[in-house]
Amino acid sequence: MRVGIIAQTLLERLALATGRVPEPIVEVFPPLVLARSIMAATQLGVFDALGGQALTGDGVAKVCGADRRATVALLEVLASAGYLNEREGVYMLGPKARRWLRSGDPADVSAYIRFNYLQWDWLGELERFIQTGIPVAFHDRLTDDEWKDYERGMAAIARLTLPEVIWRTPIPSGATALLDIGGGHGLAATRFCQRHPNLHATVLDLPQALDSAPPLPGDVLARVKRVAGDALTADLGDEAYDVVYMANLLHHFDASQIAPLARRIADALRPGGIWVIQDGARERRRRSAPMAAAIGDLYFALTSASGFWAFSEMAGWQKQAGLRPMRPIRLLTAPGQGLQIAMKSRVRGGRQ
Ligand SMILES: C[S@@+](CC[C@H](N)C(=O)[O-])C[C@H]1O[C@@H](n2cnc3c(N)ncnc32)[C@H](O)[C@@H]1O
Repeated sequence: MRVGIIAQTLLERLALATGRVPEPIVEVFPPLVLARSIMAATQLGVFDALGGQALTGDGVAKVCGADRRATVALLEVLASAGYLNEREGVYMLGPKARRWLRSGDPADVSAYIRFNYLQWDWLGELERFIQTGIPVAFHDRLTDDEWKDYERGMAAIARLTLPEVIWRTPIPSGATALLDIGGGHGLAATRFCQRHPNLHATVLDLPQALDSAPPLPGDVLARVKRVAGDALTADLGDEAYDVVYMANLLHHFDASQIAPLARRIADALRPGGIWVIQDGARERRRRSAPMAAAIGDLYFALTSASGFWAFSEMAGWQKQAGLRPMRPIRLLTAPGQGLQIAMKSRVRGGRQ
């Protein structure tokens, strides 16, 4: 999957094919304005205003407490990109907004779109990062409100991928204990417990993440425990879990941190237990990397300590820790993401 220039008329197709479109300009300016327009509309309640009714530009401006002229310009950008439909000055939600930005819908990604205000600021440090190699390390500098935006944004994405992740994760039969490392918002622990009634889950995350997490639903309240700690130093226990699940955390750690963490996770697994790594994967290819993987890798290098790892690297750490890595699973619901699962020997003390 990639983002690119789409010619809409024959003339534009011709101009593009003959190299007359100044592609760097088209790839920088419109995406910049479009991205911020979608963020602004989400933040200022434009999609919510149009959720249940069609409105004129005046009407949207009134509901959102905004300026009429500026609001209409924003609505026109959104309509041009398929977020809204417009007929004779009346606007209604278009297919993309109806699918992904309806408040309260299970597929609503508004919280993730709002999280992009933080990502916008971090990207402002890209040039400094390229020159110095010193990352933003955002976990060390978020305010309490920003932690909430971060965890809400992560939950919005997790909600989309968890049904597939749970379907494709081979939970060992008779499993009773799952550890979710970096499980922050608690959605994965909740969904695993809802799917497997005998499972109890422990969510290990930094204290600020747990303070910002939403309350757990009543049906799993007694089976999900939240523990504050740093994955790199916390006591993970000895043969305490049937499943260790770790989603979107590996890309925050460098190799010198992952190898010892892998050994502690292997120790924490019961015989026959599994370690599930869910993350973006850097693909090792002879040609250039797919766009989603390359962008994710640069972004996480900028914002954290490392970036994406290849499935083979993840499997390497699992193997060194004495586990048996399985073939990676590429997720259909998260392009560029996958599961790298490894199993601990069923024989106590046995190596794979
Ligand atoms: C990108 S979020 C992923 C959250 C969740 N696992 C998901 O996939 O939606 C990374 C999570 O790891 C947590 N985290 C980061 N560094 C950590 C550390 N050293 N120890 C424990 N948790 C950490 C963050 O607080 C955050 O909740």
